[in-house]
Order: sequence, then structure tokens, then C-alpha cells
Amino acid sequence: MAKWLDTAIFYEIYPQSFQDSNGDGIGDFQGIIRRLDYIRDLGCNAIWMNPCFESSFHDAGYDVTDYYQAAPRYGTNEDLKQLFDEVHRRGMHILLDLVPGHTSVESPWFKASCSLEENEYSNRYIWTNDMMWAKEKIPGINNWLFGISDRASAVAVNCFSTQPALNYGFGTVTAPWQFSADSEEAQKGRLILQDIMSFWLDLGCDGFRVDMAASLVKADPDHHYTKLLWQKVRAFLDEKYPEAALVSEWGDPKEALEAGFHMDFLLHNGPTHYMDLFRETPYFSKKGDGDISEFVKAYLEHYNRTNGKGLCCIPSSNHDMKRMHHLLDEEEMKIAFAFLLTMPGCPFIYYGDEIGMRYMDGMPSKEGGYDRTGSRTPMQWDHSANAGFSSAAPANLYLPIDPNENRPTVEKQLADPDSLLNLIKALIRLRSEHPALLSGSDIRFLYAEPHAFPFVYERLHETETLTIILNPSANEASCPLETNPGEVIFSYSGDAKWETGTLTVPKCSFTICRR
Ligand code: NOJ
Repeated sequence: MAKWLDTAIFYEIYPQSFQDSNGDGIGDFQGIIRRLDYIRDLGCNAIWMNPCFESSFHDAGYDVTDYYQAAPRYGTNEDLKQLFDEVHRRGMHILLDLVPGHTSVESPWFKASCSLEENEYSNRYIWTNDMMWAKEKIPGINNWLFGISDRASAVAVNCFSTQPALNYGFGTVTAPWQFSADSEEAQKGRLILQDIMSFWLDLGCDGFRVDMAASLVKADPDHHYTKLLWQKVRAFLDEKYPEAALVSEWGDPKEALEAGFHMDFLLHNGPTHYMDLFRETPYFSKKGDGDISEFVKAYLEHYNRTNGKGLCCIPSSNHDMKRMHHLLDEEEMKIAFAFLLTMPGCPFIYYGDEIGMRYMDGMPSKEGGYDRTGSRTPMQWDHSANAGFSSAAPANLYLPIDPNENRPTVEKQLADPDSLLNLIKALIRLRSEHPALLSGSDIRFLYAEPHAFPFVYERLHETETLTIILNPSANEASCPLETNPGEVIFSYSGDAKWETGTLTVPKCSFTICRR
């Protein structure tokens, strides 16, 4: 079942900012096709592409108006099919971004649903029978819209006010207008979702990253009914599309995997302590004031409950958070990537993080990006106009290119043997050559003490044990380590040394040993 996930290393593409092929200033499918060899040569063999369906773009595509149609600014459904084919021709896989919880307010479904006249869309969204409900707080409902249609009622909002919630029912029903999660109406929602999935899987995509996957059933605080819903979707996929992968934006791997997802992300919000790694007070900083122990504690809790069932995935960053380079410099990022690429679960590299693209502070909001906009600027390819992203006039670009003349580019970094990009390539190669580094191989943490360095763990396979020794701090660090970790197979900035039960690790370095 989706065996390809065992060795997958993902690259996240924000389609509007990756590569423009027709000079309109916005990235597109043909542009992505042109850059597939780059992604393959980096060592990534799987792609997650952010939403690409027809949309009103009040939230960069997370506000769909037609689930069956590619957004014209990216190309046609035929172009998208060509992208799937080109991805497969290179032995790679691609996930589309599926937004099941809400559409755009401009969706024809929602417009029909606003009508006073009863029609097939009347209950596709969560409408109350009385505007008074617009003041109520119900778990899973972010807000209400009212006074926007002839219906004298309020409609539930899933995230932004432009995103009315689709109706998958309620866990606990407390009012006559609420459908129960097992009602026919709620099941219809799921069947439509399955139909959308079939449409794209038939065209050749390999699965979905599912937006706000935990949000579907309302008044379902422990997600019992939401999990039941996804278990049905997973059973449907296993039967009809056994190779399809389901990756959730849930932020709680143990719950998400119970729901039937193959993998879940560690997120910037939620209980996983992901933010302790590269953001807030980052552990992977020379300052040495971060703490890895809470992350490890939370990780183990999820890992132990999911091991063997699915994977927790650690992203370098994504389109919703400040880039890794915001608080980490290039040297620190090298050690952060050594961690990311030696952990269990599929690594996810956000486009541009591999060359250390900047988070552009103070960028005016674009398409509902707000402070996320600074992480969504065009990919920096080379020294040509617009850094090789587009032939459009600079004023017509989707977002401006980083104006810093020393901005990193793929071209510069490929030419520099010591670049972040070349180090990441080497680490990915190492990962693919060592079974102990496979996503499903076990992990044992050896040293992860509160506010201490280094950070040491083992990856285990019946044929080998690799020890990963990371010291992001600006001081040499040492720790007790009972067993000699063996021969050094990869190191950066000096080798860690083991002597009679003590490991001594140079500052700002990492070492990978094998025994
Ligand atoms: C999570 C997505 O990653 C984010 O970009 C979007 O704004 C919300 N879900 C709403 O769909």
C-alpha cells in the first residue's frame, strides 16, 4: 500500500512562485515541468504542490471555486496531466493539495446554496435556521457569515470569512438544523469528496495533502466522527487506488494515523514542539539557548503510538510559516538539514529553503498571505532577469524577487562545493544509500537533555546502526555515550570524537557514524 512512501523525500512547490513559462509573471504547470530535473537531481523523488484548482484566490487557492478544473493561470487539466506524466517518467510522485473543509464564497455551489429556493446545494454548507446562532461558539466552527443571502440564517465559516464550511455533519447534534455525522446529507459530503479524489487520481496524481483534515465534522472535540469519516475514505482508496497516498494537515500524528492517513505533518501549531527546532528560540542556533528535550518527549509520544502504522513528517518550513532562514544562518541551516534528513518519516523541503532563501519581512499581503507572504516570493534560479523565474516586467510579477544582490540562487550554489544546496544533495544521497536512514527504520534517542548540547540519536536497521551527532551551538560540547559509535561516514566542520564513554563534539558541527 503506497509503498513508494517508504523512500519518498518531498519537495513542496508553491505553484505561483516556482517557474513562469509564459511570461505572465505567475508560475505555472509548464514551468514546473521545466524544473523537474532540478528537483530530481536534488534527490527529491516526490512533490507536494499547493492548491492548483480554480479559485477566487482570497487565500492563495485554499478557496476553491471548481474542484474539477485547474486554475487557468497555471494551465489546463491537460497541462496538469502532462505534469503528472513527466513526474512519473522521472520515477517521481506528486500529491495535490485537497481542501475538503470549505470552498470559496464565490463557488457556484455556495452561490446556489445561498438561494431561498430549495436545491441540491441547500444543505451542502452548514446553515442555521436562525441568525441568532451567529453568536454561538461550536467546536470546529471558526465563525459565522450572516446577512449575505436571502436565507434568514447564518452559515458556518471554516477558516477565513471567505471560506464557508462544507457540511459533514455534527458529532453531537444540539439543534434541528444540524445533521448528524452519519446522516445521509453528511455522507453525501464524503461521497462528493471521494468523487473529486477519483477524478484526479484517474488523471494520474498520486494522492493528496489534505488541508485542515481534522476540521470536517463539527462539535466533534475528540475527532471521533472525523476519524470515522477518513477511515471510510481510506478504505475507499485502498480498494480502488491502493497506491494513493493520504497526508494530513492535522498536526497530531497519533490521531491522524488512527484516522487512516499514511502520514501527518508536525506543524507550527499543535502539541508537537516543532517550533522548538528552527523558530522561536531555535535549538539549531549558535546561540545555544534552545532546548531539544521537549521536542523529543513529544516526538516519542507520537512516534511510539504511530510506529509501524505510518509516519510523522518534519517540514523545513512551509507556505504558512516564516522560512527556515528567518532565524538561522546558512551554517545553522546545514546542521538543521542534517537533522531533518536523518529523522524517520518523510522529510519535506519547502521550495527555496535548500538554497537558503530569505523570509522577506514587511511584504504587503498577497492573496490572503498576510505575514506568510514573505515566505512565498519567487524561486531564485540564476543571474538572469527576475532571477530566472519569469520574463515578465518586474512590476507584473506575482511577488517581487528578493532585491538583495547577494541573494542565493540555484546557479551560484550549484557552482560552490561548500554551499547549502550541495550539502543537502549529499545528505539526501546518504539517506538513500543507508537502510538505517529509511523513513520506517527505528530511532533511539541517546542524548537529548534539557538546554544541553550535543543532540545524539541512533537510527537502526538489521544491517547497520548509524549514530547522528549534532552540535549547533557555538561551543564545543560533550556528553556521556556508552558505546563507540563507529567509523565516521559523514561530517561537517570537524569530527566528533569518542573516548572511553565520552563523546566530544566540535562547535557548529555534525557527525554521522556507522557500526
Ligand atoms: C491551511 C493552509 O496551509 C493555509 O495556507 C490555509 O490558509 C488554511 N489551511 C485554510 O485553508
